Amino acid sequence: MQGSGNGERPRAGQTPLTSSELKSRFDAARSVAAEAGRLALRYLAEPQRLQIASKGPQDLVTAADLAVERLIVESLTQTFPGDFFLAEESHTETSSETLRALWVIDPIDGTGNFAGGRSDWCVSIGFMHMGKPFIGVIDIPTMNEQYAGVRGGGATCNGKPVRVSNCGSLAQSTLGVDYSYRHSSAAYLEILQALFDNEAGFRCNGSSAVSLAQVACGRLDGFVELHLYPWDVMAGIVLIEEAGGWVNDFLAHGGLRHGGPMIAATAGIQAELSALLGKIVAKA
Ligand code: IPD
Ligand code: CA
Ligand code: CA
Repeated sequence: MQGSGNGERPRAGQTPLTSSELKSRFDAARSVAAEAGRLALRYLAEPQRLQIASKGPQDLVTAADLAVERLIVESLTQTFPGDFFLAEESHTETSSETLRALWVIDPIDGTGNFAGGRSDWCVSIGFMHMGKPFIGVIDIPTMNEQYAGVRGGGATCNGKPVRVSNCGSLAQSTLGVDYSYRHSSAAYLEILQALFDNEAGFRCNGSSAVSLAQVACGRLDGFVELHLYPWDVMAGIVLIEEAGGWVNDFLAHGGLRHGGPMIAATAGIQAELSALLGKIVAKA
């Protein structure tokens, strides 16, 4: 496993965006993520508007997910009409044509928590430039926190720099571990057993994107889930790498099209965690 790479390549001859074009996208991502978080909160204030529906086992969608996604996509399309979108509820663009400027959006990550009135949920907006994760913004309205990172520019929470923790051993770590019914239970049980055997701490909060933000700011020392979609992780990948942490190569094996496993860690436990989970993840 290496750092996040470039599993799919942009079309040959595409011109990269200039630094000022990239900066305007970073500014827009932060601003629309905050607006989107406020819109989601307004839905919570009027629960009869939520219209909760099921997409599968433990997989919900609400009217707020759809409205928040519409707000983000419409706003960014208006400002950047040539950009492309990969968004959980509506857009599925991942051709080589799209990779020059691709927004990767989860309008509400942690919808089960959101619909159930629990606080771990967020708006997650990633941006890929020339096939690489470039901008990551995770807005957590219930905590009044907005995490923002841009390739080469560091990661912040509410404007203040954040770093991953300096945890150096699994036995002293607390990891986020999440799951879905897209994967069988056997490999998850193996992961939990391996963590028990190594005296690691773990939490399952129901929002992988919130967990990834918490790795970036040092509240968690790592994260693992066997299958996530690009919209769950794109923003978090940028945040963690910019905060000095490590993530597996999510894009390497078609992650942008089908999703894949996600492992994140501080530099201090990367080797131990990869050695422990690498085989379980590879055969899962
Ligand atoms: C889910 C959350 C959860 C993870 C699931 C995801 P959603 O996303 O990220 O933490 O375990 O695999 O599907 O449905 O709340 O956007
Ligand atoms: Ca999600
Ligand atoms: Ca979602």
